[in-house]
Amino acid sequence: MQSFKNITLVGSGHAANFFGKLFVSKGLHIDWVISRNAKSGEALAKKLNSQFLLKSNGLIQSDLMVLCLKDDAIAEFVNQCQISENTLVAHCAGSVSMDVLSRIKHRSVIYPLQSLKGEVDEMEVPFLIEAADKNDLELLSDWMRKLNLIFQVCNSEKRKEYHLAAVFANNFTNAILSATESLSDDFKLDFELLKPLITKTFNSIVEGNSAIEHQTGPAKRKDKDTLNSHLKMLENNKDLQKLYDALSEYIQSLDND
Ligand SMILES: NC(=O)c1ccc[n+]([C@@H]2O[C@H](COP(=O)([O-])OP(=O)(O)OC[C@H]3O[C@@H](n4cnc5c(N)ncnc54)[C@H](OP(=O)(O)O)[C@@H]3O)[C@@H](O)[C@H]2O)c1
Repeated sequence: MQSFKNITLVGSGHAANFFGKLFVSKGLHIDWVISRNAKSGEALAKKLNSQFLLKSNGLIQSDLMVLCLKDDAIAEFVNQCQISENTLVAHCAGSVSMDVLSRIKHRSVIYPLQSLKGEVDEMEVPFLIEAADKNDLELLSDWMRKLNLIFQVCNSEKRKEYHLAAVFANNFTNAILSATESLSDDFKLDFELLKPLITKTFNSIVEGNSAIEHQTGPAKRKDKDTLNSHLKMLENNKDLQKLYDALSEYIQSLDND
């Protein structure tokens, strides 16, 4: 557990808050929070009982540094900062190759395969990990095992595939539920009546059923009149009309596979 005695978090958004809470819950101490955002950075450092740095001018020395930055800012940060040669540097992005850290000797990735906004049960999050050096990968794996975390070793290409699937599983289903909320508002529906349907949909897949086999509805039945009447009801909302049409076509294409 004590393989990483000094830990630095870079960034102060959702991922930094997630990792901070996780490490503290495991009895680890975070020495530094580095963030360009003084307000959220200082608040996080205070919460974690760490020191805050707005900008790092000197050499950063840590056993582990987790970069919790916007994907596009990772390269800029590592190119501008002086990081000790002995530090294991990890980014935590799903779709960014580990090569973005190529100038770092001990480079790695610790990607949490979960949406980190709001309440997250850290112990249920699966992590995909990767390291350039075989010994670093062993060290990281042993450490995660000792912390009782769920993890798999996964290269950058495979992680990107998981991330793409995660976008469908979370971002897109959430967007569909946003559309449901907005239709419920527009037509003044009682959203409570839709909740058992939403619960059944998600429970079914979590319980191991195949989503393809559980598809129902007018597109699946090819009920053309109903499909057309729904499209007409969305006449004033071209974005949702396009979405309805595209998803209905997709559902019908599944029968041809
Ligand atoms: N959120 C998730 O569900 C999730 C899940 C898995 C992995 N991740 C990964 O976690 C990483 C961070 O995502 P997040 O959700 O924590 O994002 P976030 O909440 O938006 O936080 C991003 C952090 O990066 C900082 N930042 C942005 N642009 C910067 C720049 N040019 N230079 C320096 N700092 C900059 C932000 O500072 P400001 O506050 O000043 O903008 C903020 O501290 C990403 O690589 C993401 O892929 C996120």
